[in-house]
Amino acid sequence: MKKCFFLSILLVIILTGSCEKVTLEPDTDIPDNISYSLDIQPIFDANCTKCHGGSRSPDLRADYSYDALTKNGYIDTAEPDKSFLYTTLNGSHDSRANAKEKLVILGWIQQGAKNN
Ligand code: HEC
Repeated sequence: MKKCFFLSILLVIILTGSCEKVTLEPDTDIPDNISYSLDIQPIFDANCTKCHGGSRSPDLRADYSYDALTKNGYIDTAEPDKSFLYTTLNGSHDSRANAKEKLVILGWIQQGAKNN
């Protein structure tokens, strides 16, 4: 009887423990292989091009955005979180992208800011 009691306690700990892990896991994990065209450009299309559509730097339209960002000092792959793109998104542009989008952009820079 005692054994059974301890086993059920153990089971409860394991079950609640694993449930907790699922619910506490933030939905903001950075994915492994972030694609510029599939993950990053759509963020710009949805949130940025209405203002950064050619007349305001950086030009974030597809076909222009990658060069505009990587050739003009907006990206720092040595210190990704110091990248001007990322600091702007956490400064004057804090509300222009959500937490997940900011993390994906940071992850893309951490992964080498590839044009993939
Ligand atoms: C409502 C218009 C608007 C939207 C939408 C917008 N921006 Fe901006 N952006 C500006 C303005 C105005 C500035 C210049 C002032 C400042 O830095 O806030 C700027 C500046 C910037 C800068 C710094 C440029 C420089 O050379 O100083 C970056 C980087 C930038 N935006 C990126 C983005 C990104 C990425 C998005 C989408 C997530 C975005 N912006 C959405 C209006 C906008």
